[in-house]
Amino acid sequence: MRQHAQQEHRDEHSGRSGYPRRLSWPSADGGEVPYAVFTSQAIFEREQERIHRGPTWHFLALADELRNPGDFKSTFIGTTPVVVTRTRDGDIAAWVNRCAHRGAMVCREPRGNARAHRCVYHQWAYDERGRLRGVPFQKGLNDKTGMPVDFNMAEHGLPPVRVEDHRGVVFGSLSDAAPSLADYLGPRMLPWLDRIFHKPVEYLGCTRQYAKSNWKLYYENVKDPYHASLLYLFHTTFNIYRFNMRGRSVMDDGLGVHSIITTTPQDDDDTAGDYQKHDIATYRAGLKLADPSMLEVRREFEEQTSNNIHTLFPSTVIQQIHNTMAVRQVLPKSAGEFELVFHFFGYQDDDAALRRLRLKQANLAGPAGYISMEDTEATELVQRAIESCAAGDSSYMAMGGEDGDGGTSLISEHMIRGFWRGYRTMMGWGG
Ligand code: FES
Ligand SMILES: [Fe+2]
Repeated sequence: MRQHAQQEHRDEHSGRSGYPRRLSWPSADGGEVPYAVFTSQAIFEREQERIHRGPTWHFLALADELRNPGDFKSTFIGTTPVVVTRTRDGDIAAWVNRCAHRGAMVCREPRGNARAHRCVYHQWAYDERGRLRGVPFQKGLNDKTGMPVDFNMAEHGLPPVRVEDHRGVVFGSLSDAAPSLADYLGPRMLPWLDRIFHKPVEYLGCTRQYAKSNWKLYYENVKDPYHASLLYLFHTTFNIYRFNMRGRSVMDDGLGVHSIITTTPQDDDDTAGDYQKHDIATYRAGLKLADPSMLEVRREFEEQTSNNIHTLFPSTVIQQIHNTMAVRQVLPKSAGEFELVFHFFGYQDDDAALRRLRLKQANLAGPAGYISMEDTEATELVQRAIESCAAGDSSYMAMGGEDGDGGTSLISEHMIRGFWRGYRTMMGWGG
């Protein structure tokens, strides 16, 4: 952490919950981030407006979660409640889950099947596309009261959400200004999405957890190849992710807010000696798994990456670790809290043994995952320590050159710096 003269910054930020009149970024390259971006509720509200309700795309569901007409799932885009449904014509539709009458949440179930969605408060009823279909006592009773004669149901539906079903992954956007999903992700990122979704997938189930930290601390984490070989005993000790592997750390060539990290073990890469030499605490010589099948690999890609973490800003992370695959959904709740949902999936043509292996390896990720449980612990450690920061305090990230060595370095923080530059642009704070 770097401390900057408080006097200089006193007027730039009015405190944790105050409106950020001006936020000081100590350096232009994104390597020093004012901690206020993780603690200020005013900044959080601005993010909701400019990013989550802005021209961005968000994972809503796997199409396989909505197999039958009427299937629905409740989720969020940022803090906005959204329902995604399979319509009776087989399309996928989504709408904001907020009643057109007095604003109650219409759908209160996490998932299910329904032809109509009825608001519990005054029983207004909507169809699966969110069109208003019924208003109790619209014409009053015994010719008394009721809605005005010119009341038009067609004008009072639930706000539609833009949807794109890309190879069985359903994304939504609250903004008409968002480009197509393909343009949004760009030519560097799209092939990585298509690599995983190259054939129909089968939804296997999900886990949920709450983290008491800001959602962007998690975004830093999934763009951080540096921590991935240091924080987790499992990665380091069992050779899932080591710095000497063939690696990639690449960001999109637009705003730089999306990125991919991969590692691919090489035949001759027993690199444990390097970890011993550097006395890395998470490398434990001699530790063995009681059940080695946990890390068995069934080859299924041309390049069998042991780890593939693909971040699609601002709420989606596609994960493949050995043979377990998941879409992680990052749902901000407040400046200091987010929900993290892991949606596990396989392929529809998986044999029974492969499905079992995917489910077993699902234990690598999720709230108690052998690998991923450390992440939210780390982000909470940051949050707890920065809550009391002075206005000018910031982080310091200088590891690795710009774009690493052609995007192959795993000892690098260049993707996090790129992310912050893109974030500043999106927030209207200069690039
Ligand atoms: S708030 Fe939904 S019917 Fe009144
Ligand atoms: Fe991590």
